[in-house]
Amino acid sequence: MRPMNGKTALVTGASSGIGKAIARRFADDGARVYLTGRRKDELEAAAEGMGLDAVPVPSDVSRAADLDRVMDVIRADGRRLDVVVANAGLGDGARLQDVTEEQFDHVFGVNTKGSLLTVQKSLALLTESASVILLASTTVHQGVDRMGVYAASKAAVRSLGRTWAAELAPRGIRVNVITPGPIATPAIDGLADRFGQSTQDLHAALAADTALRRMGRPEEVAALAAFLAGPESSFITGAEHFVDGGQVQV
Ligand SMILES: NC(=O)c1ccc[n+]([C@@H]2O[C@H](COP(=O)([O-])OP(=O)(O)OC[C@H]3O[C@@H](n4cnc5c(N)ncnc54)[C@H](OP(=O)(O)O)[C@@H]3O)[C@@H](O)[C@H]2O)c1
Repeated sequence: MRPMNGKTALVTGASSGIGKAIARRFADDGARVYLTGRRKDELEAAAEGMGLDAVPVPSDVSRAADLDRVMDVIRADGRRLDVVVANAGLGDGARLQDVTEEQFDHVFGVNTKGSLLTVQKSLALLTESASVILLASTTVHQGVDRMGVYAASKAAVRSLGRTWAAELAPRGIRVNVITPGPIATPAIDGLADRFGQSTQDLHAALAADTALRRMGRPEEVAALAAFLAGPESSFITGAEHFVDGGQVQV
């Protein structure tokens, strides 16, 4: 008997990095997992490696109509949601003087509005005692050069997690926030490009900023998500959980 047998989960942004590792962990643990992301081919390839109970639903979290369609697919399968992970997100990498209105709208549109729409559209399908997991970032707790808009969008997500924990508690639904430190994913490679740095140099700089002196692995975030998704964390809600190698703790 696997720990998530009979459970249904939705993981947004599951074609890559942390979301992909979380979806794979849930699938390995026996759950049926609905995966989202905008790039259809990447999403289907990711789902294919996770077995028959991994269902790709290409969609954009910043569009309400797309999330309605995701919920329609889940509902048509006769499923309810035991776990929702609002993971889809992206960074900006621009200093105050360079931030454009389009960048601001894009980052907040995906990270903040996308998290809100994901959870809001899931509400009707959430089971009693469901677990909702949001993704923030250690940049919320530091002043990181060029990450201002990104950090602010994630600070809003952390705040929403508190409010939703209060609002959904009467239904027995828990809401928790995972705050990763530097995790080796394609997103970090993209930032290195944007900063004109090699991936290796950026990894070294980020690793040096942690107490454990290394980058984290997506599977290490997935292990925390598995804990928060399951009954072992039944008395934990509204909290922020760091998986950051001690980056903002030590
Ligand atoms: N890596 C880190 O060090 C780190 C640290 C702190 C927090 N985080 C957070 O962890 C989460 C995952 O990051 P990651 O590093 O795994 O990034 P990643 O490897 O770039 O993966 C991001 C995923 O989100 C999807 N996505 C992006 N925009 C989307 C949209 N509008 N609608 C639906 N899906 C979308 C991407 O697929 P498509 O492009 O195909 O849509 C991809 O599957 C993000 O919220 C990020 O902010 C990461």
